[in-house]
Amino acid sequence: MEQQVSESASQQVSGSDHRKRVRLGVLLSGRGSNFLNIADCIERGELRGCEIALVLSNVADAPGLAAARERGFTAVAQPSPGVPRAEHDRAMLEHLRAHAVEYVILAGYMRVLTPEFLQAFPQRVLNIHPSLLPSFPGLDAQRQALEYGVKVAGCTVHFVDDAVDHGVVVMQRLVRVRENDTVARLSKRILAQEHRLYPEAIARVLSGRYEVRGRQYVPRLV
Ligand code: GAR
Repeated sequence: MEQQVSESASQQVSGSDHRKRVRLGVLLSGRGSNFLNIADCIERGELRGCEIALVLSNVADAPGLAAARERGFTAVAQPSPGVPRAEHDRAMLEHLRAHAVEYVILAGYMRVLTPEFLQAFPQRVLNIHPSLLPSFPGLDAQRQALEYGVKVAGCTVHFVDDAVDHGVVVMQRLVRVRENDTVARLSKRILAQEHRLYPEAIARVLSGRYEVRGRQYVPRLV
């Protein structure tokens, strides 16, 4: 009943260059290293069939937004402080629609999205989180992991639903916790894995060769 099959993206990215590239909208609130890494992967041809159509932030002075402008991307701030969530998300949606965005990539976007926003992009919003979900959702995931005493940490790419860091898991990568690890050192090693994981997960989702059955992301073999 809950099985959903994604076909449209695969039709758009199935190899030939003359086909339309899938338009990504990247949402960020901070430094933007995942965004820059994705942009580099697209530029180097390691992530194909897509382009970054818009970088959008709820933080006007986010370093990631400045970096996007420097690189020549269309980069827009839609500040969120003091704005009701529904109103802010509606404004975000307007920007995304104005730039014909097809998939939304959260890259350190530190705000929960409204159901209305998510309904506008059904199963087309991806997020990366610096823990092995469902462990340690929310803020400071790396600190939570260290304080809990886990021996293995990592990162997760998942579809976004209306609960925090909760949607269907697409891919995960492990990072071993070392003796005497610090939050800074662990975060750095997790971030290196995030940069490997996110482009790969995006490519998989854009290929459309998967099904979602309940909570299971199931790759479809061709
Ligand atoms: C990344 O570690 C990402 O996993 C995390 O924010 C950081 C953004 O870094 N996201 C979350 O915690 C989402 N719940 P970046 O701005 O350098 O990409």
